[in-house]
Amino acid sequence: MKYSSSTTAVPDAPKVPRHVAIIMDGNGRWATKRFLPRVAGHVKGVEAVRNIVEGCALRGVEYVTLFAFSSENWRRPEEEVSLLMRLFVTALEREVSKLHANNIRLKVVGDLSRFDEKLRGMIAAAERKTANNTRLTVTICANYGGRWDIMQAVGKMVAAHPGATDFSEEQLAPHLAMAYAPEPDLFIRTGGEERISNFLLWQLAYTELFFTDTYWPDFSIESLDAAIASYQNRERRFGRTGDQLAEKTT
Ligand code: IPE
Ligand code: IPE
Ligand code: MG
Repeated sequence: MKYSSSTTAVPDAPKVPRHVAIIMDGNGRWATKRFLPRVAGHVKGVEAVRNIVEGCALRGVEYVTLFAFSSENWRRPEEEVSLLMRLFVTALEREVSKLHANNIRLKVVGDLSRFDEKLRGMIAAAERKTANNTRLTVTICANYGGRWDIMQAVGKMVAAHPGATDFSEEQLAPHLAMAYAPEPDLFIRTGGEERISNFLLWQLAYTELFFTDTYWPDFSIESLDAAIASYQNRERRFGRTGDQLAEKTT
C-alpha cells in the first residue's frame, strides 16, 4: 500500500469507511446480566464477530480491525485469560477456511511472543493460507497495545537508520504493526465506555469515533449500519475550515 498519513497530507474521506476499527467491549456484562458466567459472553461475542465481518464485506469495507485482547488483559483472572486463549484457538480452527473461501485475508497483530507455540503456529498458518485474498482484510489485535506498537516501531526504525538522531513520520510508519492498512476512518467502541484503552494510538489521529452502549454480543448489522450512518454525517476537516470543504465540493 502507498503510504498515506492524515497528518502529513490531507487524505480522502470515503463515503463507505475503508477501514473500521472496533473495540469489542461488554461481553462480560452481557453475560452477567443474564446470570451467565463471563465466558458465555465471550462465546457469544465470537458469533457477533462472524456477523459483523460478513456485514463489512457486503458493505465494501476493505479493512476491519478487531481488538480481541489488550496487553493489559493479562491482569484478568487466570481462568478467564486461559479461556480466552482456548476460544481464540477454536475460532481459528473453525473460521479460517470460511474466511479463505470468502476471499478474506486474516492478520493477527500484537506481541505474539507471549502466546504458546501451538497458537503461534496456527496464527502463522492462517495468515499464510489467506495472504493473497483481496476482498477484505480482517486484523485481530491480540496482546496488542498502542504504546507497545509505537515502541516496537521506534526500535525497528532506529535499527534501520544507524547513527541517525532525527526522524520523520514517514520513517516510523512503515514499522507500525498495521503498516499494510490505511488509518481507520471509523472507530467503534461497544459496551458504553468512552475511552481508547491503549488501542491504535498512532493510527486514530483523525479517525471518527463512535461509542454505543450496546454490548458487543448484541452488536448487530443494524448497529453497524447506525455507526456507518453516523460516520457519513461527519464533516472530516483534517484541520481545515468547513468553508474550505464546501468550496471543494461545489
Ligand atoms: C471485551 O469484553 C472482551 C475482552 C476484553 C477480551 P469484556 O470482557 O471486557 O466485557 P466487560 O467490559 O467486562 O463487560
Ligand atoms: C478493551 O477492553 C480491550 C478489548 C476489547 C480487547 P477492556 O474491557 O479491557 O478495557 P477497559 O479495561 O474497560 O478500559
Ligand atoms: Mg471490558
